[in-house]
Amino acid sequence: MENLDENLVVSTKIEGDEIENILRPRSMDGYIGQNKVKDNLCVFMQSAKMRGEALDHVLLYGPAGLGKTTLAHIIANEMGVQIKVTSGPAIEKTGDLAAILTNLNEGDVLFIDEIHRLNHNIEEILYPAMEDYSLDFIIGKGPSARNVQIPLKRFTLIGATTRAGMLSSPLRDRFGVLLKLELYNAQELAEIVTRSAERLGTSIEPDGALELAKRSRGTPRIANRLLRRIRDFSIVLNHEQITYEDAKIALKRLDIDDVGLDSVDNKLLESLIEKFRGGPVGLETLAMTINEDPDTIEDVYEPYLLQLGFVSLTPRGSVALKPAYEHLGKVYKGGIQTSLFDDEDD
Ligand code: ADE
Repeated sequence: MENLDENLVVSTKIEGDEIENILRPRSMDGYIGQNKVKDNLCVFMQSAKMRGEALDHVLLYGPAGLGKTTLAHIIANEMGVQIKVTSGPAIEKTGDLAAILTNLNEGDVLFIDEIHRLNHNIEEILYPAMEDYSLDFIIGKGPSARNVQIPLKRFTLIGATTRAGMLSSPLRDRFGVLLKLELYNAQELAEIVTRSAERLGTSIEPDGALELAKRSRGTPRIANRLLRRIRDFSIVLNHEQITYEDAKIALKRLDIDDVGLDSVDNKLLESLIEKFRGGPVGLETLAMTINEDPDTIEDVYEPYLLQLGFVSLTPRGSVALKPAYEHLGKVYKGGIQTSLFDDEDD
């Protein structure tokens, strides 16, 4: 099997990365869901191949864990080119980026994850590189300063971000292809975990896969992580296959409720409803109240709560909606709320 890590320029290894690599599909055919993105990408890739040119620069955006990195590898694979992988925060000096760019071959993919976190000076190197395939920089200082231009091979930049809004417009405007990844539905996630179970050398009952899928926040990375934990329970219970019951037991033990919310989500909703009378409340205040990082709330928790229709975002912050009250067993009175149980006590 091809070792993707060979191509890493900078690797920030986290636990589970290796297994995630094993579970990643390598071709468009094996990539489940995101049909609109896939269909359009296939046209752009085919056209680039027919023109004999590099694929235009691609920006992939959407919540974390939806397969942006996977898709970048698939694009390189389908285009028959090499991929170099790095991330915005990993590129510390303009020289780092210059070295990466000058080492790219014709058509190669440069994947920059978390591209919204690129330092501004470094970002400026990217503009002529993306537009004219030219590395432009200044040597020397004062009157003896000279502009130097080094031609680059025609490459494809694939940028990934959870925050398209945080990209500067000069950078955003230089991407010819903008693709938004959406949360997956339960059927798609069930298909993904069924395949992942096979790749892990086991199998999962269809209703077990669906149960797991329904509680994975629309996110393959979470579904695959939960699958590995459920497999642990199944192994210890000496089951040949991962059953529906294994899934139920494991999810309960992992404190994941029937709609996929964990203790942080529930704390967030509880706080929004009880401490802020349902909101609106600003992100920073909410984050401080529940002792969480605001970026994590924005990237991880909010997208799924929005998708469930539990919260909405207003210019003045998050607001809890009726389904959130129902989920926590509280009565919704158009913003003024009381606990169901308090009511009974009255
Ligand atoms: N693993 C992670 N994302 C996937 C996807 N979209 N399709 C198949 N397997 C995946």
